[in-house]
Amino acid sequence: MNILITGGAGYIGSHVVKLLLENTDSDVTVIDNLVTGFESTIDELKKIRDFDFIKADLSNWNEIEGIFKARKFEAIIHFAASLIVPESVENPLKYYLNNTANTANLVKLANDYGVKKFVFSSTAATYGEPDISEIGNGIKEDFPTNPINPYGQSKLFSEKIIQDTAKANPEFKYVIFRYFNVAGAAPDLSIGQKTKNATHLIKVASECACGKRDGMYIFGTDYPTPDGTCIRDYIHVMDLADAHIKALEYLENNESDIFNVGYGKGASVKEVIDTVKKVSGVDFKVQDAPRRAGDPAMLISNCDKIKQKMNWTPKYDDLEFICKTAYEWEKKI
Ligand SMILES: NC(=O)c1ccc[n+]([C@@H]2O[C@H](COP(=O)([O-])OP(=O)(O)OC[C@H]3O[C@@H](n4cnc5c(N)ncnc54)[C@H](O)[C@@H]3O)[C@@H](O)[C@H]2O)c1
Repeated sequence: MNILITGGAGYIGSHVVKLLLENTDSDVTVIDNLVTGFESTIDELKKIRDFDFIKADLSNWNEIEGIFKARKFEAIIHFAASLIVPESVENPLKYYLNNTANTANLVKLANDYGVKKFVFSSTAATYGEPDISEIGNGIKEDFPTNPINPYGQSKLFSEKIIQDTAKANPEFKYVIFRYFNVAGAAPDLSIGQKTKNATHLIKVASECACGKRDGMYIFGTDYPTPDGTCIRDYIHVMDLADAHIKALEYLENNESDIFNVGYGKGASVKEVIDTVKKVSGVDFKVQDAPRRAGDPAMLISNCDKIKQKMNWTPKYDDLEFICKTAYEWEKKI
């Protein structure tokens, strides 16, 4: 299959490229502007086998159309986006342009050039702040979507654009993934998360364990959770990457759909920090701080749908393993 990966030099995209190169004979083209992605990641991936990397910005619609004209893509996996929530509050237009407008253009090109499969990186942020008393067995895909920041809203708009396009063009099929909290590195430590000034909990704790930060804060210790800190559903990046490979297979014979991807269980901020301390053997400094605006107390997925419909079975559903790969990767870079 001839596959376009946008954002393939970034964290999650690069792990999907790795699996595609290792486990399929697909022709892979990566488009990335390297704003938060890394050419060194592309170089590492090229050690598996060669593929085309095009440094381009999705906002250059003419240039992107030129790439579609020159290559007959059969599938697109669209990761490229801006994803810092506080920045999206300060600069919403950056998010509506990069995430929503550029996605609309990509979907248009997919339509114009007959691309039949579109896999999209959406987020649990589309659910906003679900009522903790209603979460029960996890947030299902049909829970109300009420994003509380422009980042989540920009992704929800993109979802609608993709869905409406598929309604109008039955040849165009999609899988929309709503990721929960993604962490860890490839178990062979060839690639991992390089994000600068990351705010992701496991990345930050791993940086502390490696002495790259003096310490870290826990934002809010008075949430209605057993230890008072927020609960999230952490998924190993390689299991998430595998879901994308499954999605391409799924779209051969099945209808478009939205799927959560997580493990359907949660860990608190305190539990995660303790786990990073345990796997690293380093007792770094942690201070309590007030809650941040817009942090829901608990986000846990219900992942029954992806398990049943895509036959997706996670391999690394183990917080210690997630934290260990994140820490060992952090030590390496
Ligand atoms: N990391 C998470 O926990 C998480 C959670 C939910 C959803 N997501 C979604 O997953 C996707 C990938 O996230 P990530 O963590 O790998 O982030 P990332 O920043 O590491 O990767 C994004 C990549 O897209 C590229 N990019 C951004 N805008 C571009 C543009 N206009 N043109 C070309 N390239 C562009 C960046 O250079 C980068 O390589 C995003 O769509 C994000 O919203 C991530």
